[in-house]
Amino acid sequence: LHRRPGKAGSVVSAGRARARFGVQRLMSSIPYHIAIVMDGNGRWAKRRFMPRIAGHKQGVDSLRRCVKACVERGVGVLTVFAFSSENWNRPADEVSGLMELMALALGREVPRLLADGVRLYFVGERAGLSDKVSAGLAQAEAATAHNQRLVLNVCFNYGGRWDIAQAADKLAARGEAITEASLNGAMAMSHVPDPDLLVRTGGEQRISNFLLWQAAYSELHFSDALWPDFDEAALDVAIAAFQKRERRFGKTSEQLTATPSAHKLA
Ligand code: IPE
Ligand code: IPE
Ligand code: MG
Repeated sequence: LHRRPGKAGSVVSAGRARARFGVQRLMSSIPYHIAIVMDGNGRWAKRRFMPRIAGHKQGVDSLRRCVKACVERGVGVLTVFAFSSENWNRPADEVSGLMELMALALGREVPRLLADGVRLYFVGERAGLSDKVSAGLAQAEAATAHNQRLVLNVCFNYGGRWDIAQAADKLAARGEAITEASLNGAMAMSHVPDPDLLVRTGGEQRISNFLLWQAAYSELHFSDALWPDFDEAALDVAIAAFQKRERRFGKTSEQLTATPSAHKLA
């Protein structure tokens, strides 16, 4: 294992996370942590002359399929972007529709997640959510807390900038020094190592305020598939693209391919 430059805690926390979640993986290069910007629901619906919310409903089905596929492939952590800090600026009926859909999906999906060994975390700001949604998120987290097969982080009312600011605020309130390690520990995603692979569906090639801090060394993959159409085959394309990459973390290619003893001397 080599240390990732400037992120003293990440190797340790990756190891701890793997041990804690008991993920049994062959030494294949399946990414341990996949993060996805689930984009394209609105366009999927528009193409069918349906309301945008119909696309979001279909998006829930696509997420269910993706979670199952990740469990089957031995992925340890799946993090998905479901509602951004900026999505409040959408038309009021779409925002309320998304909130209702979240409440509905929680009730419906939790039994299946329990059966599949999926542990849910909701990552994002709770303030601003209705009591009903907020209680639903907390209940779902508690109900799945003992699961160990896959961690599913649902980023909801989340923004990368919010996360960095809230972490800094927490440290400042405690009078702690702000370092990369302390910030890392105060972030809303500190329970998992950084994503290995970050996928965005829907054809756009931008981050849109997703994991700004954590994506420092993630491999990026952009899929033209709209999120409701993103199926197992599209996931496998993303994983295959990841497997072809050489992750150098600032080093040279020669350093990575050197023998272990030469590696130590380097
Ligand atoms: C992503 O799909 C889901 C959310 C942002 C909630 P969009 O709703 O952004 O779909 P497009 O990009 O308009 O097609
Ligand atoms: C990003 O998609 C947010 C989610 C998928 C939840 P958006 O559709 O909101 O992003 P922009 O506005 O196209 O950048
Ligand atoms: Mg979009």
